[in-house]
Amino acid sequence: MAKRRYDDNTVIIFDTTLRDGEQSPGATLSSAEKLEIARQLARLGVDVIEAGFPAASPDDLKAVQRIAREVGTADGPTIAGLSRALEGDILTAWEGVRDAAKPRIHTFLGTSPSHLAMLRIDQEQGLQRIREGVSLARSLCDDVEFSPMDAGRTDTEYLIRACAVAVECGATTLNIPDTVGFVMPSEWAETLEMLINETPGAGPGSGVIWSVHCHNDLGLATANTLAGLKKGVRQVEVTINGVGERAGNTSLEEVVMAIHTRKSFYDLRTNIDSTQIMKTSRLVRNYMGMPVQPNKAIVGANAFAHESGIHQDGVLKNAQTFEIMLPEDVGLTQSKLVLGKHSGRHALRVRLRELGYVIDGDELMDIFKRFKDLADVKKTVTDADLEALVADEAAHTPEDSFRLVDIQVACGTMGMPTATVKLANQDGEEVVVAAVGTGPVDASYRAVDDIVQAPNVLLEFNVHSVTEGIDALGEVTVRISPEGSNRSFGGYGADSDIIVSSVKAYVSALNRMISSMGMGDHSPEGDAATVGLSSSAG
Ligand code: KIV
Ligand code: ZN
Repeated sequence: MAKRRYDDNTVIIFDTTLRDGEQSPGATLSSAEKLEIARQLARLGVDVIEAGFPAASPDDLKAVQRIAREVGTADGPTIAGLSRALEGDILTAWEGVRDAAKPRIHTFLGTSPSHLAMLRIDQEQGLQRIREGVSLARSLCDDVEFSPMDAGRTDTEYLIRACAVAVECGATTLNIPDTVGFVMPSEWAETLEMLINETPGAGPGSGVIWSVHCHNDLGLATANTLAGLKKGVRQVEVTINGVGERAGNTSLEEVVMAIHTRKSFYDLRTNIDSTQIMKTSRLVRNYMGMPVQPNKAIVGANAFAHESGIHQDGVLKNAQTFEIMLPEDVGLTQSKLVLGKHSGRHALRVRLRELGYVIDGDELMDIFKRFKDLADVKKTVTDADLEALVADEAAHTPEDSFRLVDIQVACGTMGMPTATVKLANQDGEEVVVAAVGTGPVDASYRAVDDIVQAPNVLLEFNVHSVTEGIDALGEVTVRISPEGSNRSFGGYGADSDIIVSSVKAYVSALNRMISSMGMGDHSPEGDAATVGLSSSAG
């Protein structure tokens, strides 16, 4: 990992995938998944990880503490914890981050008329809350960020007063959020210019870092963030794949690649290793169970694909005809693994390391076995195939309540689609159930439901082919919600058999739901010798 360096032209990348991103509907992550994502964010080179909102729940606090201890090392990123400008929140945020080598408390207060009304306070009382909150945070931690929430709809004069109070009380970063994605790039640039030049104690040369945090309700989050950079903003708050509340946050990959690609326009730099972008994007997609739209800038499946004849011809003659970035710049490698079914574990381990995965021991053995099976059915195993296998292994952990052992389906135009599914629980006890459904996936999911007994609603089901070709691995992401709840959980599976991927994805989502909500008794219904039959009719 390259050492981070800072100068006046460095844009600090503050990643809030684990906090604002996790607030996306359905994006709940387990503590282990948060840690894994935090490790990958550190490899990507982000400067600050907002690890969570510790006062939200004891689990959130624990997850932030774990990230602070394990990822917040001396040469790692700063670890931030969010808190309202309330004593209890601030103390809990400090508990979350205090073990990091570089901790930060990020405290906020709504400043727009509607937010002050919601808090039942007037502007003067708002300033008092900021004074108390920032002073308390600063008495605990040297690095304090303050955000006037809904700044996009707050009058500039009051924003200047709020920011001045925060700086006077010791805030080191002033983050200006467009909480509801309301502003336009040119007016936002004007507001930021005025704030930077007119806030007492926070002007150029003061050492205070100005930051922006934009939401994407009108599709302008990246444009608004970049507009800020032109006016002197030096921290951007972003998420991987643009995940976040409602339409999401500014996406990290878009801002970073704009800065890198338009170097002479911005004359700025970041500490990001852009070749880690695709890997991070896939990890977040898989763990959150939130697919990336194919035409999404930088990380969408079509972002570097050329369909029309004229485009293909141009790119073949000279890639720059229609490409402003190289696929390799964002970590999209085209190379095929020239290992066949006779290749050894060592070669596989070396290739995985080249792709950024340090995998040894039993974990390597598991991937090796899967690689061999795949090499038996596929002529070439690509890097994308390997990454899907690694993601599939990571989606299934020893803590899982259930594991898919076997599945067999019968379907077609004659008769009723039937699936026989064998699952094992944590103690290795197995149970087999057969079910009929409207199709092979429906039948398989009914059989799984009969075993797991965790009532839920299937919100989303997506199938995606990892590479071209009939023998390609199929990736499935699903999102489910426990019956009667508005929480949701994602799952991922990859296999050359699409029904197997579908069931793996469903079982992984169920495991997350069970572990997060404490559902079910986790002992398979019936015993291993029992073969039940269920159907949509009863
Ligand atoms: O959107 C927002 O205003 C936020 C703040 C807490 C920074 O997420
Ligand atoms: Zn936000």
